[in-house]
Amino acid sequence: MKRILTFGTFDVFHYGHLKILERAANHADELIVGVSSDALNYKKKGRNPVFSEKERMDIISSLNFVDDVFLEESLELKREYILKHKADCLIMGCDWAGKFDEFNDICEVMYLPRTPDISTTEIIEKIKTL
Ligand code: CTP
Repeated sequence: MKRILTFGTFDVFHYGHLKILERAANHADELIVGVSSDALNYKKKGRNPVFSEKERMDIISSLNFVDDVFLEESLELKREYILKHKADCLIMGCDWAGKFDEFNDICEVMYLPRTPDISTTEIIEKIKTL
């Protein structure tokens, strides 16, 4: 049994989100997703998400290859979340490569490729210009 944990805001759910979660699920028997809270997203990105934390968690929960979803309330709690959810592996997008290696003492840490040319920020900017 391999339990994998991954994190993200997943606002304005798009193809890159779908693909990273599918890729993570391909390595997992159980996939658990920490969805960043509205407050954490504001802290990280300086804007409120378009979709609320409840809406974003509902969207991620509806994916049939996601087994569990929880609210990520602080970037500093990654170690606690890994231990609490008994994760064997932490998966992050390769934009974070090397940044989470400190957790190698409690689980495997993997970085998966991102889908090129798409992001929530770019989608929001594109829509603004229409
Ligand atoms: N992701 C991906 N490919 C993309 C965009 C995101 O694989 N083109 C992955 C990220 O690496 C992360 C997860 O999706 O593991 C959630 O990322 P998030 O930051 O919520 O999405 P972005 O589209 O990158 O959002 P933003 O533009 O606000 O930074």
